[in-house]
Amino acid sequence: MEWGMKNRLAKLIQSDGRAMFLPIDHGYFQGPTTKLEEPGKTIEPILPYVDAIMLTRGILRSCVDPNNTKPVILRVSGGTSMARKEELAHEGITTSVREAIRLNASAVSMSIFVGSEREHETLLNLSNLVNECEEYGIPTMAVTAVGTELGKRDARYLALACRIAAELGARVVKTYYCEEGFEKVVRGCPVPVVMAGGPKVETELEVFKFIHDGIQKGAIGVNLGRNIWQHSHPVAMAKAIRAIIHENATPKEAQALFDEVKSGKK
Ligand code: R5P
Repeated sequence: MEWGMKNRLAKLIQSDGRAMFLPIDHGYFQGPTTKLEEPGKTIEPILPYVDAIMLTRGILRSCVDPNNTKPVILRVSGGTSMARKEELAHEGITTSVREAIRLNASAVSMSIFVGSEREHETLLNLSNLVNECEEYGIPTMAVTAVGTELGKRDARYLALACRIAAELGARVVKTYYCEEGFEKVVRGCPVPVVMAGGPKVETELEVFKFIHDGIQKGAIGVNLGRNIWQHSHPVAMAKAIRAIIHENATPKEAQALFDEVKSGKK
């Protein structure tokens, strides 16, 4: 692996081999998502606790201080909206690699929709993006997307999608956690796997438990947004999740830390 690629990956994946990415790219098809109406304000208090942010060029330019030192994972796919849910898989590449370089991105990311009518198109989009990004030493993170078909998130499907993403050259794969067989998803994927959070869940403990379990099963960390910034105590969530990822905290320890931060004791 060449120096530039290694250096960019080292900014994202920390020296302990783990990673905590904060995605705020949801608006690229969802519009002003709850709590992300003003992304700059939302992320300000959370930023110190994450390893990188994932977002589109528009939000990066208009809402993030260029003096921000967190590495950027630039979402470069899109072209769809919630107004046409049936077409969510019909993504194209929206941002050039030149722009990614200009914005000093540490990686680019795009969605693939395995099993959808647009499977072929999105897989070729990934292959072409990897071809171009490798020229410049920029890692590509593939997002195994399911659109509105959240039920697809079982081990068999996720293993298929993750492996294909890695085969086509993704340097990191973002996927969903599943309770049954997640270790098979990770084992079948020869590049690092990070887990998305999905829609906000009822209790913080549920989040801590799945992150902890996913890491025991081989994931290197998370690319997790809504369960942090849609929570009424986002900083406490970020600190607790960081403790699981980088300090091997158990879900119980993470909950205790969350409670302390929430009550102002820490
Ligand atoms: C969705 O396609 C977005 O790319 C998000 O980056 C991804 O789903 C992770 O965010 P969350 O934890 O909110 O699901």
